[in-house]
Amino acid sequence: MLYPNLTVSNEGHLQIGGADAVQLAKTHGTPLYVLDENMIRESCRGFHSVIDSEYGGRGLICYASKALSCMELYRIVHSEGLGADVVSGGELFTALKAGMPAEKIVMHGNSKSDAELQMAVDTGVGRIVCDNLPELARLNAIAAAVGKTVKIMLRIKPGIDAHTHSFIQTGQIDSKFGFALETGEALEAVKAASAYSNLELVGIHCHIGSQILETEPFAEAGRVMVRFMDEVRTALGITLAEVNLGGGPGIRYVESDDPKPFSEIVRAILAAVKATCTERSFPEPFVLFEPGRSIVGGAGVTLYTVMAKKVIPNVRTYVLVDGGMCDNPRYALYQSQYEALLANKAGQPRTETVTVGGKCCESGDLIGEGMALQPAEPGDILAVLTTGAYNYSMASNYNRNPRAEIVMVKDGEARTVVRRESYEDIVRNDI
Ligand code: LLP
Repeated sequence: MLYPNLTVSNEGHLQIGGADAVQLAKTHGTPLYVLDENMIRESCRGFHSVIDSEYGGRGLICYASKALSCMELYRIVHSEGLGADVVSGGELFTALKAGMPAEKIVMHGNSKSDAELQMAVDTGVGRIVCDNLPELARLNAIAAAVGKTVKIMLRIKPGIDAHTHSFIQTGQIDSKFGFALETGEALEAVKAASAYSNLELVGIHCHIGSQILETEPFAEAGRVMVRFMDEVRTALGITLAEVNLGGGPGIRYVESDDPKPFSEIVRAILAAVKATCTERSFPEPFVLFEPGRSIVGGAGVTLYTVMAKKVIPNVRTYVLVDGGMCDNPRYALYQSQYEALLANKAGQPRTETVTVGGKCCESGDLIGEGMALQPAEPGDILAVLTTGAYNYSMASNYNRNPRAEIVMVKDGEARTVVRRESYEDIVRNDI
């Protein structure tokens, strides 16, 4: 199996963190997102321990909650000592409501509204990452109006080519995020930011992309960022104290994926930061990381009920399920690959090759093509693995499908952490 928390019971059922997936589907209905709490906690600790052992604890891991935002998840990561990266008023609201301390929150966004900036200022968000010059002016005015000085970072495009899908690559010049280094724009932004009386520029941020399977692009980002901090010191006499190196470590979606363990990635980044600081006689900065996918991705499984199987001779076999792009749009968007199996036939070999289709009115509504699966029949429970990140958070009500429930499993026990939407929820805002 893809992850050690996935096992097969004597009955031949898939077990997730000790809980029987077939039973979960029966009790809670499908589609159902299942998350394994112990796995989430282990990932949090994994990140933390590297900062502690390699960098004397001079850093903060902020869970990038765009991967999956719900109150229980903020509670879990907070109890593990993590902060949170939020990218909208909605994520900020959810994090605060769950008890995440505002000072441990990093607020992102390339197009924040005044209301979102106001909310960040009023609630005392620890660091606001500013993306563009108009935002600096707006934030300064908002902070000045309430007599506050707010801590900011600047989002930098370090110009690093990370080998991942172009939609989730963000560090290159042609990106809508942040200030480019190569053009001198970033240095101008530092100058502009430090001139505002109600903004305190504490550092710089970059995020080179997502689902990155190699170590070197991250290490290079560390070097580039420290070199730029040195350049800022030389050009402007400002010594920035913090660097935020974003998220992006890749995870295992299919058997052939071979991601570097994130501990290795963080170790390589820290080594690169330290070496560049030594080389430039620059004081070692406080370091922030924002992993999302690598905290929750592997901990999630989605369960569906098989509704029908359609064999189109000499073309393909469709296995049709009761969810689809409304709960997992990632194949439709990025042709993302997943492993799947039938939870009630988990002990049997996967002898068929199928296309898993969803229930939405759209031919592109697929969970995957060319997927290996046990012979499926209506009523079987299909488990799609590695769906903890960017599934629930990117779910929609397309075709007015209610969003699915999330259950959290811990040591074999399951509890609902997000209720299934009802049809009443669907019409709640209709007038
Ligand atoms: N920090 C910033 C500023 C980000 O933009 C992101 C992701 C992260 C941290 C977390 O990255 P992670 O560790 O999860 O790779 N919807 C796409 C992924 C978009 C990622 C956007 N930014 C997907 O389903 O693959």
